[in-house]
Amino acid sequence: MRAITIPEPGGPEALVWAEVPDPEPGPGEVVVDVRASAVNRADLLQRQGHYPPPPGAPAYPGLECSGVISAIGRDVTGWTVGQEVCALLAGGGYAERVAVPAGQLLPVPAGVDPVDAAALPEVACTVWSNVVRLARLAAGETLLVHGGGSGIGTFAVQLGRALGATVLVTARAAKHDRLRELGAAHTIDYREQDFVEEVAGATGGHGADVILDIMGASYLGRNVAALADGGRLVVIGMQGGRKAELDLGALLAKRASVAATALRSRPLDDKAAIVRGVREEVWPLVEAGKVRPVVDRRLPMTDAAQAHRLVESNDHVGKVLLTTA
Ligand SMILES: NC(=O)c1ccc[n+]([C@@H]2O[C@H](COP(=O)([O-])OP(=O)(O)OC[C@H]3O[C@@H](n4cnc5c(N)ncnc54)[C@H](OP(=O)(O)O)[C@@H]3O)[C@@H](O)[C@H]2O)c1
Repeated sequence: MRAITIPEPGGPEALVWAEVPDPEPGPGEVVVDVRASAVNRADLLQRQGHYPPPPGAPAYPGLECSGVISAIGRDVTGWTVGQEVCALLAGGGYAERVAVPAGQLLPVPAGVDPVDAAALPEVACTVWSNVVRLARLAAGETLLVHGGGSGIGTFAVQLGRALGATVLVTARAAKHDRLRELGAAHTIDYREQDFVEEVAGATGGHGADVILDIMGASYLGRNVAALADGGRLVVIGMQGGRKAELDLGALLAKRASVAATALRSRPLDDKAAIVRGVREEVWPLVEAGKVRPVVDRRLPMTDAAQAHRLVESNDHVGKVLLTTA
């Protein structure tokens, strides 16, 4: 088969479409013939040599895919050859074929284009596991989503709204109309406006009950300031750095909490539990049309370098897909 390889870490030109060995399904795994994968921020770091795949994961980038099951390994039940699926991957999605632990497979939700389904697994699993399972967002609460126009952000806006929360977002102004269409009640241009003041103004001084943060260090103090009493801040990205001072006094006065999580390196059984939760709680919302894949554009997998340049520029809204056909 062919896959996007990274012979030497570097810029987008480091991505090379090359002949590589076909994957075999190990015990508990299936092989998926890939229709599409999607670019995630982490892929840019992996290309630069800063985010190596976890032990045992395929060497090629790609944290999710959609496609058709073409082979089934030992001890796999409930899946058949020829079935259309999408999957959460620890790597290897930028390829014509990938071996996937069966616990990380999801059916293509009814009503979703099988190519566009590649836009769902990573964002659905990340957002659901953090905003719902960990932070326990409840109907009537306020969710602040940083980077509302990102793949993660566009999904979080829709899921928060579908769960009955009021969703506020930070994003550059050009993305605000699209984010309001997706369900954001209030958009904040983080380049021009102070999001702490905006959140206070939009919530009548209450603050955000849950914050999904992708900036890390540069937003930590302001995030704590923007939290409501009993608020939950979940950090999933460190685009603004990894080390910052935390004012525990501010946190304890609000009885608030800060958590940080990563999906890719979780143990297999934990990932399988997240995938089951997504299938049970999120897929019905997708099938009802309340949460949709947001696809900025599709590019051939051979143009992965162009896709990385686009994502690096942040000019996209939602996901950039890479297709094999
Ligand atoms: N921990 C995990 O398990 C996990 C899993 C998946 C993703 N993530 C993280 O989640 C983040 C989003 O991932 P993605 O693949 O969806 O990213 P993406 O589509 O590449 O989007 C990155 C976003 O960052 C926004 N941004 C840049 N500077 C900002 C700032 N100062 N304030 C607010 N937003 C800002 C950009 O929006 P503008 O154009 O509006 O600036 C852009 O939409 C990344 O940091 C990624 O590493 C973590």
